[in-house]
Amino acid sequence: MIKVGVLVSGRGTNLQAIMDACAEGWVGAEVAVVISNNPDAPALDRARARNIPAVAIDHRRFPSREPFEDAMLQVLRTHQVDLVCQAGFMRILTGRFVSQYRGRIMNIHPALLPAFGGKGMYGEHVHHAVLESGARVSGCTIHFVNEAVDGGPIILQAVVPVLDDDTPDALAARIVREEHRLYPLAIHLFAHGRLVVEGRRVRILGAPIPPFTAASGSDSASVGATPGGAGASGGTAPGGGPGPVRAEGADPSA
Ligand code: GRF
Repeated sequence: MIKVGVLVSGRGTNLQAIMDACAEGWVGAEVAVVISNNPDAPALDRARARNIPAVAIDHRRFPSREPFEDAMLQVLRTHQVDLVCQAGFMRILTGRFVSQYRGRIMNIHPALLPAFGGKGMYGEHVHHAVLESGARVSGCTIHFVNEAVDGGPIILQAVVPVLDDDTPDALAARIVREEHRLYPLAIHLFAHGRLVVEGRRVRILGAPIPPFTAASGSDSASVGATPGGAGASGGTAPGGGPGPVRAEGADPSA
């Protein structure tokens, strides 16, 4: 069982999905601590509701990034965190921080990287840019964090359709449901030693992971099944791991 530290800034629906999946027992991880740079983040309340240590470290109280990050590093070390997961964390980590947890920091981005990523591409900006581009698909990406913003090796991606009458909000809602399924799976793979970084690519050891693709033209997401993998309501995680991966997101309020 590995210990995960989750970095958040806002509502925390990905955190909720991670906590829920960990509680189900199939992830092989526990959330040891949640840190927010925003003391008012609803995500902190979600952690407290689970009796998980929730620590606010307000970046505005520090003169620069380094002491702010030192305070976070201290908390992460205190809780003996093996893996750091950014889940809607709105600060860019310095190379100094990254070097402390190299290969052990994940982030989720609400688009299909390497498109629609980088500085300034967050929240609604991403979905606006996707709609303006005319792209027919979007989705989400879980990647390891390196020094380049949104530039680390890609672990998992899920694809959703872009519909003709989409708004940024509608697209975001479709994507976040996929995020909630993908993040626990990525942590599961890491916890079981199945992720090997080879240059820019991440090799996933063991059974293949079924594609995560929302049903075309529909808002109801589904998990594509491949031989040896799990279907949308299967009792095993994709790739033959234990536990379910649900077709619907963990938090209906997302
Ligand atoms: C998600 O869309 C994620 O992709 C992005 O920030 C959002 C966080 O949402 N990085 P939540 O706080 O997990 O609800």
